[in-house]
Amino acid sequence: MTSTNPPGGRVAIVPGSFDPLTNGHVDIVLRAAKFFDRVIVAVLVNAEKTPMFTEAERVAMIGEVFNGQASVEVDSCGGLLVEYARRRGAHAIVRGMRTVSDFDHELQMTLMNRHLEPDLETMFMMPAARYTFVSSRLTKEVFGLGGSVHGLVPPVVERWMRAKRGSDRPATEAR
Ligand code: PNS
Repeated sequence: MTSTNPPGGRVAIVPGSFDPLTNGHVDIVLRAAKFFDRVIVAVLVNAEKTPMFTEAERVAMIGEVFNGQASVEVDSCGGLLVEYARRRGAHAIVRGMRTVSDFDHELQMTLMNRHLEPDLETMFMMPAARYTFVSSRLTKEVFGLGGSVHGLVPPVVERWMRAKRGSDRPATEAR
């Protein structure tokens, strides 16, 4: 892992499934962008999850959300996160931490990544309190049952979710 600044400055990777990207994720990416010269939002496959969106769809919708944020890049990668971070010359992984229930899993992943790549630091940021209860999983559940996801995900993502369901009508009108 490089310990000096590459020409592009300090680089952070915000990895995740992003299935779909929520407003909580957006909050974390924008916070990270205040401290790093470049933030790479990396879509990774979480082998434990069955996705709603393909990897390409997720990259496309996240690209739309951060269109205009010059320091934010969207990418996807398979394999080990630490290998990707090495290839991209990243200085840190940034993850969001909502509640204590996130802690155990995040600690395990952090220590595994540190075991694999001791020089790569993982940093945590807390999203705004209004996003503490927001998760991709619950967002999909609410949407799937016909509830509104307005305010939980960016409008772009809401449109992608409706398109995925094959309807352009808001969930509450679709019944
Ligand atoms: O949004 P998620 O599902 O909580 O993100 C989890 C993710 C994708 C960041 C994690 O599963 C991951 O890093 N996967 C890549 C594979 C890997 O490197 N695994 C070993 C490190 S824990």
